[in-house]
Amino acid sequence: MAGLENANSAPSAPSASARQGWSSSLGFVLAAAGSAIGLGNLWGLTYRVALGGGMAFLVLYLVAVVVLGFPLLLAELALGRHTRRSPLLATVAVGGASWRPLGWLFPLGSALILGYYAVIAGWVAQALLAVLQGRLPTDQAGADAFFLKLSQGWAEGVAYGLVLALTVAVVATGVQQGIERLSRWSMPALLVLLTGLVIWSASLADAPARYEEALLQWRWSDWLNPRILRQAFSQAFFSLGLGSGAMVAYGSHLGQREPLPRQAAIVTALDTGVGLMAVLIIVPLMSAVVVGRQGGAGAVGSLFVAIPLGFASLGNAGPPLMAAFFFLASLAAVTSAVALLEAPVAVVMDRLGWGRARTAWSTGAVVALLGLPALLRTDLLMASHDLFGGVVLMASGLLLSLLMGWVAPRQLTEELSQLPAPLLRGVLLSLRWAAPLLLGGVLALSCMEMIQPGIPLLGM
Ligand code: PFF
Repeated sequence: MAGLENANSAPSAPSASARQGWSSSLGFVLAAAGSAIGLGNLWGLTYRVALGGGMAFLVLYLVAVVVLGFPLLLAELALGRHTRRSPLLATVAVGGASWRPLGWLFPLGSALILGYYAVIAGWVAQALLAVLQGRLPTDQAGADAFFLKLSQGWAEGVAYGLVLALTVAVVATGVQQGIERLSRWSMPALLVLLTGLVIWSASLADAPARYEEALLQWRWSDWLNPRILRQAFSQAFFSLGLGSGAMVAYGSHLGQREPLPRQAAIVTALDTGVGLMAVLIIVPLMSAVVVGRQGGAGAVGSLFVAIPLGFASLGNAGPPLMAAFFFLASLAAVTSAVALLEAPVAVVMDRLGWGRARTAWSTGAVVALLGLPALLRTDLLMASHDLFGGVVLMASGLLLSLLMGWVAPRQLTEELSQLPAPLLRGVLLSLRWAAPLLLGGVLALSCMEMIQPGIPLLGM
C-alpha cells in the first residue's frame, strides 16, 4: 500500500482499528441513504424536469446513475473501508503523498457546500413553521413575498444558525449515537410520508395529463442537447452526494464483513427512487411557468414559490399536505447536512487528534463563516452551488475514479470481492474510462457555461 507510512505518520492519527463502527448493516444503509437523499432529490430533479427535457433528461439521469453514480459510490465506500481512515488520510494511504490534494479537496468541498446548503435548509425550516402557523400564500404576489420573507432578514440568519447547530450537535454525538440514531427514525418517516404524498398527488384529476406533459415528451433534439446531458449527469452526481468524501468517511466505519456492493445498490436505488417520487408529487401541483421563471428567486427559490402555490390551490387539504412535505424536506436536509459535516470533522479528528465534540463545534463555526456570502445574497448562493456543488464535486469525483481505477484497483477489488466478476469488470471499466471521460466532458461544459452565464447551471 504505497504511502501508508505517510498516513500513519500524520500527527495523532488514531489507530484505524479503534474506529467506532455502525451498530448494524441497516443502520449504515439508513445513514448513507440519509446522506444521499436531500434537497437535491426533492428540488433538483423536479426543477430540471420542469425546465424541459422531459423524457430525455430522465433517461440520461438514470443512465448516469448506473454508469457513473453506482461505480463511484462503490469506489468511495471501498476507499473508506479499506483504509479505515478519514478522507484525507485514506487517499494518501492508497495513493501516496501525491494524492494529498484530493484528500484536502474532499473536506474543503463539503464544508463549502454545507455553507450554502444550510441556508436553503433554513428556508425549508422556515417554510414549515409558516405553514404550521397557517401562513400560506394564495396568489403569485403572496408567494413571491413568502419567499422573500424566508430568504431575507434576521429570521433567515436565525434559521441558518439553528440548522448548523443541530447538524453539529448530531455529528458531535458520534457515529452510532448521533448520525445513525437520527437516520434510523428519520429515513423510514421520510419514506412513509413520501409514499403517502405520491399516492395522493397521483390521484389528482389532472395528474395524468401533467405527467405526460412533463415526463413523456419525446423530442429527438433533446438527446443531443449538451445542457440536458450535463444537467442529467451533474444531478446524478450531486444527488448521490459523490465527490464530497462523505461516503469515504461513512465507509471507514463499516465492518469488513458487510456486503458493500449490496449496500451501495440499496442506497443508489433509494436515492433515485426518492428523486422520482418527488417528481411525481410536485409535477401535478405546479405550473412550469412559475418554476421556469427566473427573477430574483433563482432556481431554488422558484420552487419555494411554486410548491406553496400548488399546495394552496388544493383548498383545505393544502396546509396539512404542505406541512408533511416541508417536514420531510427538513429531515432530508438535516441528514445530508450531517454527512457534509462528517467529512471535514473526520479529517480534523484524524489529523489533529482532537475529540469529536470539540472538532464538530469548531468545524461548524468555520462552516458558518464560509456560508455567509450565500446567506447574504441569493445570487452568491446559486454561484456557490454551481461552483462547489458542481465543479468541485465533479473534479473530486474525477480524481477519485482515477485513484481507484488506475492506482488502487487491487484495494478496490479486495473490497468488492462479493461482486460477480462481470459486474466488477464493469465497475473497473467505468472508473478507468467512462467516469473520467464523462466527468471531464461535463466539467468542461460546466466551466464554459459559468463563463457565459444563462440559465443557472445546476439549479439544485
Ligand atoms: N445528496 C444531497 C442532496 O441531494 O441534497 C447533497 C449532498 C449530501 C451532497 C452529502 C454531498 C454530500 F456529501
